Amino acid sequence: MKGGNHYRWRGSHLSLTLITLLFTTIFLWVCEKNHFVTTVPSDQDQFTWHSSGCAAFHFAVCNYAKGSWVADSRRPLYPGFGCKQWLSGMWACQLIQRKDFSYEGYRWQPKDCEMPEFERSAFLRRMRNKTIAFVGDSLGRQQFQSMMCMASGGQVIREVEDVGRDYGLVKLHGHARPDGWAYRFLATNTTILYYWSSTLADLVPLNRSDPKSDVAMHLDRPPAFMSKYLHQFDVLVLNTGHHWNRGKLRANRWVAYVNGKPNEDKRLANLGNAKNFTVYSVARWLDSQLPSHPRLKAFFRTISPRHFHNGDWNTGGSCDNTTPLTRGNKVEQDRSSDEIVESAVKGTRVKILDITALSELRDEAHISRYSIKANQGVNDCLHWCLPGVPDTWNELLVAQV
Ligand SMILES: *[C@@H]1O[C@H](CO)[C@@H](O)[C@H](O)[C@H]1NC(C)=O
Ligand SMILES: *[C@@H]1O[C@H](CO)[C@@H](O)[C@H](O)[C@H]1NC(C)=O
Ligand SMILES: *[C@@H]1O[C@H](CO)[C@@H](O)[C@H](O)[C@H]1NC(C)=O
Ligand SMILES: *[C@@H]1O[C@H](CO)[C@@H](O)[C@H](O)[C@H]1NC(C)=O
Repeated sequence: MKGGNHYRWRGSHLSLTLITLLFTTIFLWVCEKNHFVTTVPSDQDQFTWHSSGCAAFHFAVCNYAKGSWVADSRRPLYPGFGCKQWLSGMWACQLIQRKDFSYEGYRWQPKDCEMPEFERSAFLRRMRNKTIAFVGDSLGRQQFQSMMCMASGGQVIREVEDVGRDYGLVKLHGHARPDGWAYRFLATNTTILYYWSSTLADLVPLNRSDPKSDVAMHLDRPPAFMSKYLHQFDVLVLNTGHHWNRGKLRANRWVAYVNGKPNEDKRLANLGNAKNFTVYSVARWLDSQLPSHPRLKAFFRTISPRHFHNGDWNTGGSCDNTTPLTRGNKVEQDRSSDEIVESAVKGTRVKILDITALSELRDEAHISRYSIKANQGVNDCLHWCLPGVPDTWNELLVAQV
């Protein structure tokens, strides 16, 4: 009796091992061949399992930044005239003067990676009880608004609560707007927030009771907001880039500080070097925090390219092409076009969200001369029409979370 049981047990154990082996082989083959179904199964656990399983397997081989733009009638992911609740009027190209919307009809297809179709209810279920934070400049704000529109399908959703107050994001007296926004989808308890930090350096007024005082810009310290709330984040996406110019720093009275003192290093007086130093400092700081924040997935988004011909918006620069993909539709390079972010995250647990080269191909998708400030001569070849290219950044983010 005993022996029989033992034998039977060994037999089933053996077949279980064989089945597991077979299954693993098929799974890896499917992952590798990139034949994985692109529809999102309705079963949440299954989705979580297969996407993270493939992601782990792809870790070493898959580069989402390589691939091609393909026309897709399922784009955009939300109607551009329907997301008024989250989308700033100045970026909603369907609501301003622009009349051609061909730029909305493209999807990014990575060459070697599985790319599940974005489906908002599956996404929100996956993000149950989770917080997604964007910290960066106005291009980060565009990505945040895009994420709100994608998660809500561009429909008015009442079960979304403004939780800005929980993060100190309130409009202060004399300010045009708060430093950020935070919203919670109540059905899944998913929080999506944005904090404005255009340089990712910590800003400390030298005299808090004097609104006209200079502001110390600590190149080697992360924004206080980030250190304070990091333990609440599950996904964090950083970006910086376009504010590193003399005009902007001077207008804000931001003065570079290093080691708690005004900067004296001649090398860092050069803004390109100061930016690189700050990007490195933030990436290294974040990496040092990750072991004590095991649930956090941190991304550094690479720079969003501008497409001004002849200077910038102060000097009459423009971008008038409206024909999609005149620059080609493929990215074939292995390295990122943003060397600063690529090398800053190298060797850290911070992941790169590399969108530079693929966005470079989309010069027709900027707000361009349809800017609401066009009568002031502004031709916006920096920000993107929404829906548009930042939606793709979020699709790439969701695929890698
Ligand atoms: C979400 O949080 C609530 C309250 O803490 C908990 O009861 C629930 O199990 C959590 N759900 C998931 C999927 O973690
Ligand atoms: C919402 O999620 C947070 C974790 O992000 C959790 O602490 C909290 O208990 C959840 N609330 C509810 C009502 O489930
Ligand atoms: C800070 O600013 C206030 C208001 O302008 C001024 O009265 C005060 O002397 C300043 N403090 C320092 C240390 O400069
Ligand atoms: C950026 O800073 C890092 C670390 O200080 C340095 O190794 C690297 O050479 C710098 N890169 C550039 C382009 O200045």
